[in-house]
Amino acid sequence: MTAKEITTDFLVIGSGLAGLSFSLKTVDAGSIALVTKQDIAESSSRYAQGGIAAVTDRDDSFAEHIRDTLQAGDGLCDPKIVELVVNAAPDRIRELIELGVRFSRRPDNRREYDLGREGGHSRRRVLHAADQTGAEIEQCLVEAARGEKRITVFEDHIAVNLITAPDPADGGRPRCRGAYVLDRNGKRVKTFLAHTTILATGGAAKVYLYTSNPDTTAGDGMAMAYRAGARIANMEFMQFHPTCLYHPRAKSFLISEAVRGEGGVLKTRAGRPFMAAYHPMADLAPRDTAARAIDAELKKSGEDHVLLDITHRPAAFIRRRFPHIHRQCREFGIDITKTPIPVVPAAHYSCGGVQTDPRGRTSIPGLLAIGEVAHTGLHGANRLASNSLLEALVFADQAAELAREEIAIPRPFPRVPPWRIGKAVDASEAVMVAHNWDEIRRLMWNYVGIVRSDKRLERAWHRLQNLRKEINEYYWNFIITADLIELRNIATVAGLIVASAKKRKESRGLHYSLDYPKKDDRRFRKDTILRTKRYREP
Ligand code: SIN
Repeated sequence: MTAKEITTDFLVIGSGLAGLSFSLKTVDAGSIALVTKQDIAESSSRYAQGGIAAVTDRDDSFAEHIRDTLQAGDGLCDPKIVELVVNAAPDRIRELIELGVRFSRRPDNRREYDLGREGGHSRRRVLHAADQTGAEIEQCLVEAARGEKRITVFEDHIAVNLITAPDPADGGRPRCRGAYVLDRNGKRVKTFLAHTTILATGGAAKVYLYTSNPDTTAGDGMAMAYRAGARIANMEFMQFHPTCLYHPRAKSFLISEAVRGEGGVLKTRAGRPFMAAYHPMADLAPRDTAARAIDAELKKSGEDHVLLDITHRPAAFIRRRFPHIHRQCREFGIDITKTPIPVVPAAHYSCGGVQTDPRGRTSIPGLLAIGEVAHTGLHGANRLASNSLLEALVFADQAAELAREEIAIPRPFPRVPPWRIGKAVDASEAVMVAHNWDEIRRLMWNYVGIVRSDKRLERAWHRLQNLRKEINEYYWNFIITADLIELRNIATVAGLIVASAKKRKESRGLHYSLDYPKKDDRRFRKDTILRTKRYREP
């Protein structure tokens, strides 16, 4: 491997809605290097079905959207951040529409947007593009980004580590100055030096065996930021989406919560509706309750899935409102207009992440984090449906404003050593990567899933320590590959999730412990913060 150095004003890592939106908003302020693991259009955002929550209806109000968000967050949202995001929503939506995003309109009144409803929302307020909202937005943003000469896109590039260097202007405090990035095709590690580095790497749901997410969500940003010494918050709050398609051939296929919003009913395989026994909003309960209810029903019955039934709605409506879900399920031999859909919960969204302030600043100067990788304080202990694309848009905007101001401060690039390849030889034991990968995801699913206990967490913790040691030895002794980078990251993030869950000795939002089934506001109405001063591999 040979080293190569690239300098840029802004290094953006990740090409989902947050990264692209930030890039488009700063392109006239400086040069942008946009690094993305696969194709520019591949990201979690692309798979978002439901939509974006925003107050656009005259009967709705900011106060109600704020209240629903706070209620879902179960005491841990930052009310100032919730207010900021909810109030900014209509402006961010307007910008998307100006960019060309086509949200669905009402069939009976084409002048109005068709607002969807999802769990935890007291009103219809979700703008959507049928059931492929993320794909519609991502396509518009990708097209716009491709048209900008100052955005250089590095596809098939995966960040390995952040680069920090002492900042003489800040008393020698470490400042983020870019990242080492593996070019998957050229098979070499390049040094990217930047004025400002922006993590927009998405979440970490791939840490779990079953997930609604694409293969890219390995918690890379969280792991890199942690290793660099950033503050990481609330990693115990992993959101499990209640309804992913249960089918041996279906990988990670989500059945949007909008299906429940349009009247879908969760039933046991024997046909008994059960949600009314768990929450006053029944099938419109927030996700934490719905996922736990399904888990409880499955444990009671010993079955491997429940059913989501929308067959009572007219077939033409179902086909128009959910064309993508209808089509995909048909491919698996399920006609959702006639047959209830087999579903199970799966890991979906990381509510915790790299802690940021309202402008996207992390605790490391020069490093911003936006989108799912960040913990802004919006989601608290459980995210309200369709608030995530909104958060990504709002904080991309906030961070872009900050970055535009700060680019005026000159920051000469430091001299940094090229990536050390040491005495690496080609890896021949790919089987170790595959085995550890599977073991981590399985143990996280079994021991650190929807329902947790002290014993299960302890078990997971011990297994992870051993696995991390093994992975680390492998990491420094062999030439790194994308698989190995991701394996090391999921091991780190799994450790962060377990460490955070072990600290929270109560049940709140998405964190439910059999040993502490009650909420304890006196001791635990606070964020769980993890930080390492100097990262030491186990
Ligand atoms: C869904 O369509 O159910 C997912 C929406 C979200 O995660 O907010």
